[in-house]
Amino acid sequence: MIAKTAAGGGPSLDAEVLAFSSSLEKDRVLLREDLLGSLAHLTMLGRQRIIPLEAARAIHRALVELWHAAEAGTWRPAEGEEDVHMAVEAELTRRLGTEAGHLHTGRSRNDQVALDLRLHVREQLVEALETVSGLVEALVARAEADADVLLPGYTHRQRAQPISAGYWWCAAAAMFARDLDALAFAHRQVDASPLGVGALAGTSLPTDRDIPRTLLGFSRLTLNGLDTVGDRDFALDFTYAVARCLLHAGRLATDIIDFSSSEFRFLQLGDAIACGSSLMPQKRNPDVFELVRAKGAAGVGNLLSLLTLVKGLPLGYNRDLQEDRGPLLSAGPLLLGVVRALRVALPHVSFDAAVTLRALESDYTQATDIAEALVRSGVPFRTAYQLVGTLVKQAQGLGIPLGVVPADVAAAVDARLVPALEQTRDVRTSVPSRESVGGTGPRAVAQQVATLRARAVEGRALAHSTPRLAHLFQVLQEVTW
Ligand code: ARG
Repeated sequence: MIAKTAAGGGPSLDAEVLAFSSSLEKDRVLLREDLLGSLAHLTMLGRQRIIPLEAARAIHRALVELWHAAEAGTWRPAEGEEDVHMAVEAELTRRLGTEAGHLHTGRSRNDQVALDLRLHVREQLVEALETVSGLVEALVARAEADADVLLPGYTHRQRAQPISAGYWWCAAAAMFARDLDALAFAHRQVDASPLGVGALAGTSLPTDRDIPRTLLGFSRLTLNGLDTVGDRDFALDFTYAVARCLLHAGRLATDIIDFSSSEFRFLQLGDAIACGSSLMPQKRNPDVFELVRAKGAAGVGNLLSLLTLVKGLPLGYNRDLQEDRGPLLSAGPLLLGVVRALRVALPHVSFDAAVTLRALESDYTQATDIAEALVRSGVPFRTAYQLVGTLVKQAQGLGIPLGVVPADVAAAVDARLVPALEQTRDVRTSVPSRESVGGTGPRAVAQQVATLRARAVEGRALAHSTPRLAHLFQVLQEVTW
């Protein structure tokens, strides 16, 4: 593929070098953003009387036509250009001749590409915020539905203390609620218009950067041109938020994979999501969740690529930055794919409450509750800890779970254990007693549910208050001079 428009390289540039350096195939996806940026810049040039109004009107008409043609699929930027920006300029020149040359006044591809990427990331953020908010809401709904299911909570993948399934779902939702925060931070970072800083140092022409900023719905301008054209922090922030969200999806997936295994049998996978084996007829595999977990690799890879890309670059624009396209542009779709898969799959995952209760009843997870009962009767915690530890050892020696230890066994260890054991030997008493803030008690969980719901509403509100590309076009196609 050979780049035709001699924007900088000139016609003598080696064909292979041009092909090597073209980013068109990757940044084609930025076409709408590029057209909007051009419309906003053109509006400013016309309003400031920097270019003839005749030319502004003709270019405006052509850009609007290109938008419609691109939307209708009747035009796509020609192959063989260096990037999407040159491809649009080449098409305008084909249509308007040298008149088209007014458009690039006071603008560089360096601020143009920064703008396109910011518009693109902002649009991706809208979808990410909406989708992750939806996931938080779905998880919270499950927390309410499974509020009464009891299961062992784990540390070190060893049974630790009784929790409710509602609490477990809330733990998952809490991770994704933090991802909403990370996405909101990325939103704040991306919300600055770079347009008008030129190649690096501004312009002597009477431009007004606030005009395209307002038209494109940015709340502020970037501060310094030299920094602006080399800045991909907004890309790092977005890619980081995506990578972290994917890691969270993977951790939830691992719990589901484990809990649905024959070793646990806590969760059942519905027919719609249980994948078979081509050889073993009995298998019901959790492939969806394994893939959810696996996609995190690409998410982390994207972040690492971008971090490494900007490391050590000098200030200002460097062509290296063009290589942001692959990792940055794939991050959003990767996230949406994973979150949507989770949302489809989760309704087909159900707890087996009898199995999870049996896991509790056959174990020693109420040991801490016995110790806390001793504390309530005035025993120092460390003493209580030792007494209950001894009791657990006795029970294990007898091969019985804590719930059925005879009172005389407890009395033989220490008389104070007897009432403490009677109060707490039924594992079902544990969860309702743990009402500290952030705990697994039903009131504490209800509080978590309310907080998580509010966070999802905030996430959606940020998405809804963000201008969408299609809306910007409606405004920009109406501008007049
Ligand atoms: N294709 C380039 C990119 O995407 C556009 C900017 C080129 N700027 C330049 N000075 N060569 O980064």
